[in-house]
Amino acid sequence: MKILSIETSCDETACAVVEDGVKVLSNVIYSQADLHAETGGVVPEVAAREHILKIIPVVDGALKKAKCDWDDIDAIAVTKGPGLISSLIIGTETASVMAMIKNKPIIPVHHIAGHIYANFLGGSGETGADAESGPEFPILILTVSGGHNEIIYMKKHNEFSIVGETRDDAAGEAFDKVARILGLGYPGGPAISKAGEKGDREAFKLPRSYLEKDSLDFSFSGLKTAVLTQVKEYLRKKGVDFSSDDFRTISTKIPTKFKNDLAASFQEAVVDVLTDKLLQAAMTFKKTKEIHLAGGVSANSRLREMITHKLQILEEKGGKSIRLRYPADLSYCTDNAAMIAAAGYFIYQSDPKKIKKGQNITPTTSFDLF
Ligand code: KG4
Ligand code: ZN
Repeated sequence: MKILSIETSCDETACAVVEDGVKVLSNVIYSQADLHAETGGVVPEVAAREHILKIIPVVDGALKKAKCDWDDIDAIAVTKGPGLISSLIIGTETASVMAMIKNKPIIPVHHIAGHIYANFLGGSGETGADAESGPEFPILILTVSGGHNEIIYMKKHNEFSIVGETRDDAAGEAFDKVARILGLGYPGGPAISKAGEKGDREAFKLPRSYLEKDSLDFSFSGLKTAVLTQVKEYLRKKGVDFSSDDFRTISTKIPTKFKNDLAASFQEAVVDVLTDKLLQAAMTFKKTKEIHLAGGVSANSRLREMITHKLQILEEKGGKSIRLRYPADLSYCTDNAAMIAAAGYFIYQSDPKKIKKGQNITPTTSFDLF
């Protein structure tokens, strides 16, 4: 079954063609990152206008790259939400009109379910034996993106239980905000990661918030404030006026070594908490067979390294062996449409009769779609 999928929940205009939920025939992504770098973050109105300009060329490009025409396509999948409403609407309108004209079934997909299914796409990175077989349930998933941060327990296809979530900022959001404070640019995650490679992870003692004992929730706002406090303290000592909130100007007064060290220390604190909570969840949900990393922050190499290391220690101490998977292709970590087609395929398979032809899909910002 070939699914054409569309994803426009934030600032990527994306379309893919995927066969049987796993074989990616094309995955075209037009990123607006350069456009939003000027403002240091996504301006919804600007993102929506850019989606309008790019969506048709991106869909045409995905069909062409997959060497398909519309007769080859069995269904359309589209991100229904959550996301920026003005961005989502371009994707859902385009998909709905195409489904109507081409008389195709249309499958609405939850954006986070899409990120989760990125690990079901062929070629997903994994450690451990038996790399040929697909994921084995139950799975614990750490979803770490710009807008979302959860630990999800997945017993079978399309059955998700949120067992932990952020109480304030998502990990990706914290990366973006700290990068802004340090004047490292947008998107913040890759910029912090790059600066952090040159920095000392132990240069700053930053707080790690574990909340109540047994809690699988996250909180990153205190850490973000701690970074800001370090910057203010440095500037105060140097006699630099910190009355403006224009971080682009202020950041020019901070030396590169200070930025690199602070970026490395910040990243270490985030990754420490994420991986500790993930292990704690694996101890709580004892039947867990696999751990998956999903969402934009799953591209982070320190996160991958630290969870691999902690799982090894667990195994050496006599704990069970849990297989780790994360999207091998970096383009499957951040927003893309291949993941939406994968999720759409498994939704379709679980109940094909529920999927209607030529339906009109209404976008939503609600997370509550699982
Ligand atoms: O999943 P995603 O593409 O969009 C949302 O659904 O939000 O995630 C985007 C987030 C951004 O906050 C970005 O800074 C972060 O993922 N990100 C990273 C890395 N690459 C992207 N964070 C840490 N390290 C990275 N290498
Ligand atoms: Zn996303």
